[in-house]
Amino acid sequence: MSGSPPDPSRRRFFRQFAGEIAASAAQVVGAVAEVRDRSAAEAQAILGTVDSAMGGTGARTRATSGSRGTSVPASKAVPDPAAGTEAPTGFRTPFRFDADDVLFVIDQRELPDVLVEIPVRHAHDGARVIRDMAVRGAPAIGQVAALSLAIGGWLARNAPPRSRDAIIKAAAKSLAGARPTAVNLGWAVDRVMAAYQAAEAADATGVEIAAAMRAEADRIVFEANDDHGRLAEHGLHALPDTGPRELNVLTHCNTGPLACGQFGTALGVVQAAHHAERPIHVWVDETRPYLQGARLTAWELAQAGVRHTLIPDVAAGSLMAAGKVDAILVGADRVAANGDTANKVGTYPLAVLAARHGVPFYVCAPISSVDLQTPDGAAITIEERAAREVTEVRGRKIAPPGTAVWNPAFDVTPAELISGIVTEEGVLRAPFGPALAAAAAAREARRGPVPSPVDWGGPVVSAAAEPGRA
Ligand code: MRU
Repeated sequence: MSGSPPDPSRRRFFRQFAGEIAASAAQVVGAVAEVRDRSAAEAQAILGTVDSAMGGTGARTRATSGSRGTSVPASKAVPDPAAGTEAPTGFRTPFRFDADDVLFVIDQRELPDVLVEIPVRHAHDGARVIRDMAVRGAPAIGQVAALSLAIGGWLARNAPPRSRDAIIKAAAKSLAGARPTAVNLGWAVDRVMAAYQAAEAADATGVEIAAAMRAEADRIVFEANDDHGRLAEHGLHALPDTGPRELNVLTHCNTGPLACGQFGTALGVVQAAHHAERPIHVWVDETRPYLQGARLTAWELAQAGVRHTLIPDVAAGSLMAAGKVDAILVGADRVAANGDTANKVGTYPLAVLAARHGVPFYVCAPISSVDLQTPDGAAITIEERAAREVTEVRGRKIAPPGTAVWNPAFDVTPAELISGIVTEEGVLRAPFGPALAAAAAAREARRGPVPSPVDWGGPVVSAAAEPGRA
């Protein structure tokens, strides 16, 4: 069995991390800038440290003026336990603002080899990084879409009202249509569009409209971090009791900070358990064909100092049969009103195997991933991606030329196979229909109503983009 042993300096990092969850839970509005700046500072801590090791400010200069952002070997972002230093242990979000109108997004396609950032200077840059999966994971793409749309609002601030309206709506359409399955994308775009329309209706200036859009985008980012922190704490209490024995969790795809910003969902629960000093080991599905598990989850768990073992997806069944899995934790891209859940392809077979072997199967998803307008899983659009993602492994061909391919990016797990849905409002149990509606109402009571979808002429939360785009 592989995997790095827990390291005390990393544990300190997560103790501090979780302390910040509690601190941030007390503040909603007003802390947005602080969270954003802190995220930027963390990114700077990694990139800046390595930057100086690379010899001065060259990498920073590239980040602010080049078409590509900063690039450092990703292994440098993981501290050397032998060194026993308090070196930075990781990023806090998959994106950061370098200046008011440029968003830098970590290019997750390059991980774990190299930490590269891509600048988003226009809304269409944002749509491209989402569509091309430089940034991925349902909550993260919602946040990047919201911030990209706010950048679009800023760039349109001096345009006459009619052109500004056309520019902003076109940006919203391209962002909301970038990927079809994760509901967070349309949900976040709708929120920023609602802020735009409210400011416009109040006769605000172009600058004021841009500020209102940016404030809503910042709120989405802040709320996500806060909600994911709450979710992680709830999930901790759902984990099976294994006494003094190490808990063996199996996970699929990537649901950590890269996918969510700061904490993560399923991996947030893992990190909460690690922080609580509960002995935990994670079986990491490699997650063919995009390898989010091998490339991203293993990388994040190494940074967190959580013991883990990478497995081929197809090994999960025999592991369960051998009694080596205590619980399965996965994320979600869209939870339908009845609890049916779309998540990374390969999740459904895990749920079937879990039922066969009596292993609890938890979906960890914030309410922003719940779509009460979609009645059940059959109504969820499943993205189909390019054949080359299956016929090639990181650029190397593994199938005969011309081989026919079906490459769905997600599958649907029926609600009856789900033991519980872990949300920021608690762990929901079947029947999921009323439980999800009550949790959405509880979130609204806590935060105030989410600005409702407005008719801006493009996709709204449950009207997903065209399938089959890749
Ligand atoms: O295609 P991806 O990498 O965007 O798919 C991501 C997943 O399926 C995650 O499990 C899901 O978004 C939940 S992330 C908290």
